[in-house]
Amino acid sequence: MELCELGQKPPLGEAPEKMYAFLVRQDRFGQPRDAFKREVIPTPGLGPEDVLVYVMATGINYNNVWAALGKPLDVIAERQKKGEPEDFHAGGSDCSGIVWKVGEKVKNVKPGDEVVVHSGWWAPDDPWVLSGKDPMLAESTRIWGYQTNYGSFCQFARAQSHQCQPKPKHLSWEQAGCYMLCASTAYRMLMGWEPNTIKEGDYVLVWGAAGGLGSMALQITRALGGKAIAVISDDAKKQFCLDHGAVGVINRKNFDHWGPLPDTGSPEFGPWFKGARAFGKALWEAAGAKVSPAIVFEHPGQATLPTSGFLCSTGGMIAICAGTTGYNATLDLRYHWMRQKRFQGSHLSNDEQAASVNKLVMEKKIDPCLSKVYKFDEIGDAHQLMLDNKHPYGNMACLVNATQEGEGASI
Ligand SMILES: NC(=O)c1ccc[n+]([C@@H]2O[C@H](COP(=O)([O-])OP(=O)(O)OC[C@H]3O[C@@H](n4cnc5c(N)ncnc54)[C@H](OP(=O)(O)O)[C@@H]3O)[C@@H](O)[C@H]2O)c1
Repeated sequence: MELCELGQKPPLGEAPEKMYAFLVRQDRFGQPRDAFKREVIPTPGLGPEDVLVYVMATGINYNNVWAALGKPLDVIAERQKKGEPEDFHAGGSDCSGIVWKVGEKVKNVKPGDEVVVHSGWWAPDDPWVLSGKDPMLAESTRIWGYQTNYGSFCQFARAQSHQCQPKPKHLSWEQAGCYMLCASTAYRMLMGWEPNTIKEGDYVLVWGAAGGLGSMALQITRALGGKAIAVISDDAKKQFCLDHGAVGVINRKNFDHWGPLPDTGSPEFGPWFKGARAFGKALWEAAGAKVSPAIVFEHPGQATLPTSGFLCSTGGMIAICAGTTGYNATLDLRYHWMRQKRFQGSHLSNDEQAASVNKLVMEKKIDPCLSKVYKFDEIGDAHQLMLDNKHPYGNMACLVNATQEGEGASI
């Protein structure tokens, strides 16, 4: 079979020679709406530990906004430097689907299994991985569908078998396809860095709380006994946050002390400090008590980090996985060392963390927060909304081989 239409199934275990995929090319780098285009490309072959997933629905994540822009990294050029021949980016880092074909050494899944895929990818023969250490710290680790090709914007995605987790049966394809990247990342940030993990009653300050990561962080915090304080930029998002586990909400638009920390000896420092203290007071009001967050869930970065550093509790941790507003990290070190705080980078998740958060989803303790479902041909538009911060709350999905919304939930 040369090519299947979307939704058409070849015999299980067989794949067509070619497939549809939404691609970015270097001469289209720029606004996501124009950078992504539907094309037909060869269906990839499989390594011994790979699986080919018949993608039913894909999630939309910020990493493929970066891929479309070609900044801060040209992912196509990076792969070509490592010897990969493809002159395109067939991305997508989140999906639900059916295992269609498996490599000869795959044991944990079989053709026909319904799965969701987490986006931690590493070389199977990486000595670090083989030694049993956390593979997310291995030299070969990549973000599947961002740093690797043939992700979930393909009709048939190529993943490593260890990335597969069982699809929660109560979810539709699009619900199942939208949460894993953000949920697993949030789980590692909140539970991966002992001893700074959520303990009963701990406060967690969550930036961008109605976003993809934030909506997962709120629910994980609630499920594990913590108390999340949500930060948003629009009061319209408040109820969403309260419904998904926040015990209090702060609107950051009521403050204006954002950006890198001014020089502590400069005249600008006083106003900054006043702003940070006022934000701290708003946190106390939101919590209903004079508390400090044991964990600050960071991803805006440059704009918010100085405030995060100031507010984090003594011995607490700022866990950060992105710098959406800029990469220049500034902290008032006096508070950092005297109060012995931790500033911890965190990235995606390993298999165990993905399984742990997927279990919370299967137990219905985490709602995937599917916000809106788009068509396959709207992959570029969905990324554009995300870049413009105009996307609906929670996580977006696009149908790939699923032909209508609401299918796939069996209980
Ligand atoms: N390293 C990893 O493993 C990993 C994994 C997932 C995501 N990420 C990264 O994390 C970032 C967020 O991803 P996401 O999926 O949660 O995106 P998202 O759904 O767009 O949410 C981000 C939220 O950040 C808030 N925000 C925007 N500008 C801000 C500012 N100036 N100050 C404070 N908050 C601001 C917005 O909420 P309000 O406007 O309501 O405040 C927005 O909802 C992206 O850069 C993404 O690439 C990294």
